[in-house]
Amino acid sequence: MGLKLGEDVPDFTAESTEGKLSLYEFLGASWGIIFSHPGAFTPVCTTELGEVAKLKEEFDKRNVKVIGLTTDKLPQIIDWVKDINETQGCTVNFPIVADSDYAISSMYGMIHPKASTTFTVRSLYIIAPNKEVKLKITYPASLGRNFNEIIRALDGLQLNAEHGVATPANWKQGDDVIVMPTTTTEDAINKFPKGVNVVKPYLRYTPQPE
Ligand code: BEZ
Repeated sequence: MGLKLGEDVPDFTAESTEGKLSLYEFLGASWGIIFSHPGAFTPVCTTELGEVAKLKEEFDKRNVKVIGLTTDKLPQIIDWVKDINETQGCTVNFPIVADSDYAISSMYGMIHPKASTTFTVRSLYIIAPNKEVKLKITYPASLGRNFNEIIRALDGLQLNAEHGVATPANWKQGDDVIVMPTTTTEDAINKFPKGVNVVKPYLRYTPQPE
């Protein structure tokens, strides 16, 4: 269901809180995040959108553009944004797409009919600059997402894209990373001047590349 890793996200044009938005044009050469949630004027969603607004500096540092998606009509979303700003102590600083005909959410697999036929679940896609889906998560309506984990995932994905390394369980910034199974130890030693720690032939660490 929905888009799969490695697929290109479909382009679309839609109304948003920042005017008409065309996905590919909006993203340009940046990384992207598109995330859905059940609807306007709902409590968990209010906290999620506030949290995303507060993390803008972190997204900017990583060259990531964020888009929210709501299946309400634009005037309602605009009214709701006032509440988000008031209650979450933020200024919503990313576009929220109004997908009131469910065209985008259907295309992106954000409706899970056994959960609800009327609202989108909490779907989130991380999109690489080449428009490829790099990560997808799906949470139910009752469970707010941990956006610090999304930032951590972005860091891991960007390390993989830039340096061809993998990240171990619970990896965090500054921890050692893992040499990909597709890299020979000889190549790894040449590629990673900070050194390679061979624990097993298949389990090799190197300090996080800069
Ligand atoms: C919420 O965003 O708070 C929510 C929406 C639908 C069901 C449960 C919670």
